[in-house]
Amino acid sequence: MHIVITGANRGIGQALAARYTARGDQVTGTARSGDALARLDVTDPEQQTAFANGLADRPVDLLICNAGVYLDKGQELETGFPADMWQQSFAANVTGVF
Ligand SMILES: NC(=O)c1ccc[n+]([C@@H]2O[C@H](COP(=O)([O-])OP(=O)(O)OC[C@H]3O[C@@H](n4cnc5c(N)ncnc54)[C@H](OP(=O)(O)O)[C@@H]3O)[C@@H](O)[C@H]2O)c1
Repeated sequence: MHIVITGANRGIGQALAARYTARGDQVTGTARSGDALARLDVTDPEQQTAFANGLADRPVDLLICNAGVYLDKGQELETGFPADMWQQSFAANVTGVF
């Protein structure tokens, strides 16, 4: 299987990439920085397009939309959740996945 995993440079994404690779699958992992993985910030439409074009001749059997943020951890409803934080969260966790 060819498996695409976003946010594969650390955490759960990295662990999944290692396990699938060890199982013999072809893994395309992405990261926001560095040269080891395919470059993709999921909030950047131009990077999404460039990444998709790069995969054009390689069908994807499984897409794991792992990249995400939890910026509002610990926020209080009365005092927290600033608008820019909400916007960044949706850009990564909702629009970025779509
Ligand atoms: N761990 C949990 O208990 C838990 C529970 C529920 C849901 N989740 C979700 O499961 C996923 C993985 O969790 P985790 O604990 O492994 O998280 P993590 O250690 O914080 O790793 C998040 C990954 O997402 C990447 N990322 C964040 N914003 C991105 C963006 N705009 N474009 C591309 N990549 C981006 C990060 O890249 P950088 O290194 O560049 O920041 C990193 O590779 C996340 O979506 C998280 O919200 C986790």
